[in-house]
Amino acid sequence: MRIVFLGPPGAGKGTQAKMLARRRNLAHLSTGDMLRAAVAGKTVVGLVAQGYMERGALVPDDVVLGVIEEHLADGKAAGGFVLDGFPRTLAQATRLDEMLVSRGAPIDRVLLIDCPMEEVVRRLSGRRSCRKCGAVYHIETMPSKKDGVCDRCGGELYVRDDDREDVIKRRFEAYNRSTLPLIEYYEKKGILIRIDGTAPPDAVATAVEKAVAG
Ligand code: AP5
Repeated sequence: MRIVFLGPPGAGKGTQAKMLARRRNLAHLSTGDMLRAAVAGKTVVGLVAQGYMERGALVPDDVVLGVIEEHLADGKAAGGFVLDGFPRTLAQATRLDEMLVSRGAPIDRVLLIDCPMEEVVRRLSGRRSCRKCGAVYHIETMPSKKDGVCDRCGGELYVRDDDREDVIKRRFEAYNRSTLPLIEYYEKKGILIRIDGTAPPDAVATAVEKAVAG
C-alpha cells in the first residue's frame, strides 16, 4: 500500500501518518523529519535547507527530490509506505509518479487532511515534538504525562523553530501557492479522498482507516 498525506501545516498529517504506518506496518516517510535531521546533522542538504525552513518557505525541489529518492530506494519502503509532507509541488508530484510507475507501484490513495488557518495556528502554537523519537504532542489536546518529557522514549520535548506565528503564516501561504494545485492533480487521477481534520484525532484516524480500506 502506498499512501500520500496532503494538507496544510498543522492539519495533523504527521500524527495520522505515523498512526497509519504503525497500524499497517508501513514505512513512514516524512520529508520534514528528513530535512530537520539533515539540519541537525549539519549535512550539505541541511545547510541548504535550513534558511528556507526557518522562514517558512519550501526547500527547492531538486534538494527534496534527492532526499526522498534515497529513502524510496531503501528496502524499508519496499513493503509499502506513507508519504507525509511530500509531494508539495507539481514538479515533485510528477517526478514521484515517474519513479513509482517505472516500478509498477503507483500511489493507491491521496488523503487530504483539511483544516482552517485559525485552528492550524492554535495547534502549532501548542505543539511539542520529541527530539529523540519525533513523537508529537499538544499542550492542551494531547499533553505528555510529564511536562516536557516524551511518554514513549523519555526524550526532551521542544518547540519547532518554524512554529512561531509569523512563520506559520508564511508556511500556510507557501501551501496555498504551491501545494493546493496538487488537489486537482490527484482528483483528476481519481485517487484523492478528503478528510475533515478538525475532528478529534481518533475520529480522524477512523476516517483515514475507512479511506484506505475502501
Ligand atoms: P513539515 O515538517 O512537513 O511541516 P508541515 O507540512 O508544515 O506540517 P507539520 O509537521 O507542521 O504539521 P502536520 O500536519 O504534520 O501536523 P501534526 O500532526 O504535527 O515541513 C517543515 C518544513 O520543511 C516546510 O515548511 C519546508 O520548509 C520543508 N519541507 C518539508 N517537506 C518539503 C517538501 N516536500 N518540499 C519542500 N519543502 C519541504 O499536528 C500539529 C499539532 O496539532 C500537534 O501538536 C498535534 O498534537 C495536534 N493535532 C494533530 N491532530 C489533531 C486533531 N485532530 N485535533 C487536535 N489537535 C491535533
